[in-house]
Amino acid sequence: MEKFVIVGGNCLKGTVRASGSKNATLPVLAASILNAGKSVIHEVPNLRDVAVIKDVLRYLGAKVVDNQNTVEVDTSNIQSVEVSEELMRRMRASNLVLGALLGRFGRVKVSYPGGCQIGSRPMNLHFKGLQALGATIQEKYGYIIAESKKLTGADIHLDLPSVGATENIMMAAVLAEGVTSIKNAAREPEIVDLQNFLNNMGCHVKGAGTDTIKIEGVRLSDLKPAAHTVIPDRIEAGTHIVAAVITGGEVTVTNVIPEHMEPLLAKLREAGVEITAGDDYVKVKGNGRVKAVDIKTMHYPGFPTDMQPQMMALLSLAEGTSVITETIFENRFKHVGELRRMGADIKVEGQSAIVKGVKKLSGAYIEASDLRAGAALVLAALAAEEGTVLENVHHLDRGYERLELKYNSLGARIIRVHN
Ligand code: UD1
Repeated sequence: MEKFVIVGGNCLKGTVRASGSKNATLPVLAASILNAGKSVIHEVPNLRDVAVIKDVLRYLGAKVVDNQNTVEVDTSNIQSVEVSEELMRRMRASNLVLGALLGRFGRVKVSYPGGCQIGSRPMNLHFKGLQALGATIQEKYGYIIAESKKLTGADIHLDLPSVGATENIMMAAVLAEGVTSIKNAAREPEIVDLQNFLNNMGCHVKGAGTDTIKIEGVRLSDLKPAAHTVIPDRIEAGTHIVAAVITGGEVTVTNVIPEHMEPLLAKLREAGVEITAGDDYVKVKGNGRVKAVDIKTMHYPGFPTDMQPQMMALLSLAEGTSVITETIFENRFKHVGELRRMGADIKVEGQSAIVKGVKKLSGAYIEASDLRAGAALVLAALAAEEGTVLENVHHLDRGYERLELKYNSLGARIIRVHN
């Protein structure tokens, strides 16, 4: 177990580069199962969640070679369609191999995945979509077994635009016979990135980024080795931007697609933050306390739930009272108690948190409960007077590449301590 000791009160200044997107990398690596050949993926971030999906691929029999942020995956010799419970429990997104294994082999057996403790996170929409394509799904003894002699294209209407369900259905449908249409599909940029990778390997997918995705099935023999560069991580970049604002600093974040960050940037502008967006960078300048703003998390292009905790840290220091409503996950206010320990004035009422801005936060002994809650606490600690000890930083390593090194290069003082 490791912790951070954070000395607050330093303005962050300079330039920091966002890594490739975690949430785009995971489905892309899962999709590499489909082409029964080699895929070369660039801009793969060095994260714990990415290490898990690589281990899953190796467990199945794929050859995975790492060369810094480029990963070569050869899935021609996959022998197994079963993933061990131990591996599945290490990460929620390990369920993304379901669609690709079913698509290529017609059978998959995996245990229920683990992951962040932010809500119940059912898989009913994944199952409904795969069943519509002709798969049978059995849930026995904590395992999911999906089978199909032949997948056939279908019209699928998702009850809600689940990111994971959209991705799993896309990966199964690319090798189904005929045309599949996914309506009320998730529109996240990571879905577009998956579409681009699938098309690079010879699949016929269009419409990603809108609420209707159309997939024309191809044969396994039509697929070919593919190369792909993962899009930048909009959540990591957003976290850096909020870090600059909360410390009253001036930071340029490079390797970003500003359009993907518009839901966050619009909110920050509303809060009075000065932002300049170029083709592939965003520059931000903190200037005293921000104005209180209300936030409601929504599916893309709404405000991302993955930025809600970090914005709460910022708004806990705002002038005025903000209302933050979480509509995506039912248990995503675990950072509230820890922010309160630091002096924040936050009250939770059902799905909403009422955040009364205070003038200062103070350092405290606190714990990260999950990935983005951990990020919020780092930001609060950077702005706090005195030092903070943050336990459980392994949560942060799931989604940020050595966050402390990036922030120390901007003037922060964060020390990683091995217990
Ligand atoms: C993905 C992201 C995660 C982000 C989330 C929402 C990855 C690896 N993770 O997670 O960082 O916070 O999108 O933007 O990309 N739901 C159902 N039934 C289902 C599936 C989902 O009811 O079958 C519900 C969930 O409980 C949740 C909502 O749909 O309330 C959104 O979940 P979903 O979009 O599926 O999130 P993930 O793909 O798990």
